[in-house]
Amino acid sequence: MSEAAQAQHTRVGREELEEQEKKLRERMSKIKHKVAVISGKGGVGKTVVTVNLAVAFAKKCNPGKVGILDADIHGPCVPRMLGMKGDILRVCPLGAFPATGPLGIKVVSIDFLLPDQETPVIWRGPLKTSAIRQLSDITWGELDLLLIDLPPGTGDEALSVMQLIPEMDGVIIVTMPSEVSQDVVKKAVMFARELNVPIIGVIENMSGLICPNCGARIDVFKSGGGEKMAEELDINFLGKIPLDPRISEASDEGLPFVISRVESPAAEEFMRIVGKIETFLTKNYVKTERAQDTGEKLKNNASDTG
Ligand SMILES: Nc1ncnc2c1ncn2[C@@H]1O[C@H](COP(=O)(O)OP(=O)(O)OP(=O)(O)O)[C@@H](O)[C@H]1O
Ligand SMILES: [Mg+2]
Ligand SMILES: [Zn+2]
Repeated sequence: MSEAAQAQHTRVGREELEEQEKKLRERMSKIKHKVAVISGKGGVGKTVVTVNLAVAFAKKCNPGKVGILDADIHGPCVPRMLGMKGDILRVCPLGAFPATGPLGIKVVSIDFLLPDQETPVIWRGPLKTSAIRQLSDITWGELDLLLIDLPPGTGDEALSVMQLIPEMDGVIIVTMPSEVSQDVVKKAVMFARELNVPIIGVIENMSGLICPNCGARIDVFKSGGGEKMAEELDINFLGKIPLDPRISEASDEGLPFVISRVESPAAEEFMRIVGKIETFLTKNYVKTERAQDTGEKLKNNASDTG
């Protein structure tokens, strides 16, 4: 490609990207709160937390006002955990609409968007634009809360998704006690701070084991690590969810434990966590200031990648 052609190509790419981002902003403008669930590494229970948060809020909010964006390209598990496997987006000449799950939860999964199994591999390059295009075509409508299940870790993929979503209220970091390697959580904290997105707090999942026979709590890993770390990093500690075999059973069956195991210690603790998140979303938040910062960031990133 000649230099002139290259320049033309780059300019078109950037304009298209800006156009898509503008569209995405418009389509998301009627969402009151947007919260991403992140982790320093995979397999810590990010999706379990996302799905149960959605259900907990769906019980409290008006019908149809809670949504989940399952943006995990490695293993989009939200549909399975909500018993929606095989559902698809509603597409009509007016646009694409989320699928509706239990309690009226609106779900968009990357599974619905990217049927091609090869896509994760080429996610970094032109696919970013393509994903923006597809996500920007989703008509979310009015929502009180949108939860975003990000790809695990703090790499390029998680970053790409975070950069797509305008005016995020904050992130929830999920960790587990064995990850006492504070570095992993530190990375997630750095990630959020870099993006200028507030940290709502840390949830320590798989914290202790509830004995299936007698209900006693056994600390499998050294306890208290999460709280100490949160204090050191100056972030909120939201709570600890114990390891409970019934949780994994329930999520395999598409039944979030906050409704299928209401009286379990995990569900009780989870509802306390939900209360704290609710407080954060309604009080600790200065929307306008942050929105401007994020807007700047998006613009800079668009010109970096264009
Ligand atoms: N507190 C818990 N007690 C028992 N099982 C749990 C608990 N939390 C999560 N699990 C189980 O652990 C597995 C991993 O959870 P989940 O898929 O939510 O993690 P993740 O962080 O989203 O993983 P990935 O990085 O692959 O997206 C699932 O099978 C889930 O059912
Ligand atoms: Mg997951
Ligand atoms: Zn026991």
